[in-house]
Amino acid sequence: MEHEKSTRFWCPRRDEPRRVRTPCSLVCVSALGCVLCLLLGVSLIKLPDPQHQILPITGSEPSEVTVLVWTHPFGHHSRLPDCEALFGISRCVLTDDRRVYPRADGIIVHHREIATNITALPQDPRPNGQKWIWMNFESPSHTSGLRRFEGVFNLTMTYRVDSDIFLPYGYLLPRHHAHASSLRPRFQRARLLAWVISNWSESQARVAYYRRLANYVSVDVFGRAGVPLPEDSNVVSLVRRYQFYLALENSQHTDYITEKLWNSLLAGTVPIVLGPPRENYERFLPPEAFIHVDDFPSPRLLAQYLLLLHRSPAYLQRHLAWRRSYSVHLTAFWAEHYCTACSAVRNNRLRTNTVANLQRWFES
Ligand SMILES: *[C@@H]1O[C@H](CO)[C@@H](O)[C@H](O)[C@H]1NC(C)=O
Ligand SMILES: *[C@@H]1O[C@H](CO)[C@@H](O)[C@H](O)[C@H]1NC(C)=O
Ligand SMILES: *[C@@H]1O[C@H](CO)[C@@H](O)[C@H](O)[C@H]1NC(C)=O
Repeated sequence: MEHEKSTRFWCPRRDEPRRVRTPCSLVCVSALGCVLCLLLGVSLIKLPDPQHQILPITGSEPSEVTVLVWTHPFGHHSRLPDCEALFGISRCVLTDDRRVYPRADGIIVHHREIATNITALPQDPRPNGQKWIWMNFESPSHTSGLRRFEGVFNLTMTYRVDSDIFLPYGYLLPRHHAHASSLRPRFQRARLLAWVISNWSESQARVAYYRRLANYVSVDVFGRAGVPLPEDSNVVSLVRRYQFYLALENSQHTDYITEKLWNSLLAGTVPIVLGPPRENYERFLPPEAFIHVDDFPSPRLLAQYLLLLHRSPAYLQRHLAWRRSYSVHLTAFWAEHYCTACSAVRNNRLRTNTVANLQRWFES
């Protein structure tokens, strides 16, 4: 008997001009996966329907759009990307030259640089039709000064699914052909469980959880708080030697799922997540692709489960089978953001909108 279950995870479509918020429809191909979904009592993933926007007819060529990057995030200058070459987004002019301000179709403002200084925003009058984009990828716990910016921006660009311009820290892309080799370990995964943490603070839920878990299972801790990362190695290559990875977010908020998760998937490990609730992760991932700390009543029981999987590769396969059908994409900071913004500015050209409740929305 065929078990079919239709699920949708968010991912952009590369085969057409990007729209804002485009989930792809997927069909669960593996019978085992479906059975597991049912066993886990997982409900269907519900995403907001894509906004079917009626695009103005502008001839065969999409019209040129100019977007000004007002501040480089955190003051780190990066070369502006070629959106056509990287993402197939054509006729998009990106610049950081402020002299272009009077004729830019949109400007991207990164929150950190204006958080404490509203005069860091453009002081000249806003040209007609110009979109101001509020860009922020920090969580509300690390975002201050929001109330000063009510009614200032026209579009939001964040990791939240309900942003005007939504871009997560990573996403899955469906594979066109089932990929058998992705299941074979490329490296001997002799080691059990790793965690890379740079900002250790006893007040964080993740540190408290780690302390309890470490009573029952050994965790190799890297980063400023543990063994320093080897010079020649990045997180992904370090973590490849492990079966499991602690992808614990620094704070818990709607859709706030960062590169910690996506790096771990890229490395082929099974992530153990602490962040928003399981249902929230399931907007982005098949239910068995991760283990949520809330799946177990205590860290002791989670530790027992990990040790069981470690001893029984057949059980571990449950958490890896989805890899046949998807590949993992890590969002390119900030190239992908700028190009996605450019595309969104084009799609919203004839619209007028103002972000009135920035703080209430972002902190919800
Ligand atoms: C605020 O931003 C303006 C414009 O970039 C700058 O001239 C000023 O020095 C900044 N003020 C502070 C306190 O950083
Ligand atoms: C480190 O964590 C503390 C407590 O959560 C937070 O206040 C601080 O801003 C964090 N620092 C960085 C650099 O993220
Ligand atoms: C952008 O927001 C400003 C401030 O509310 C508003 O005056 C302007 O009409 C908006 N422009 C567009 C193109 O949406």
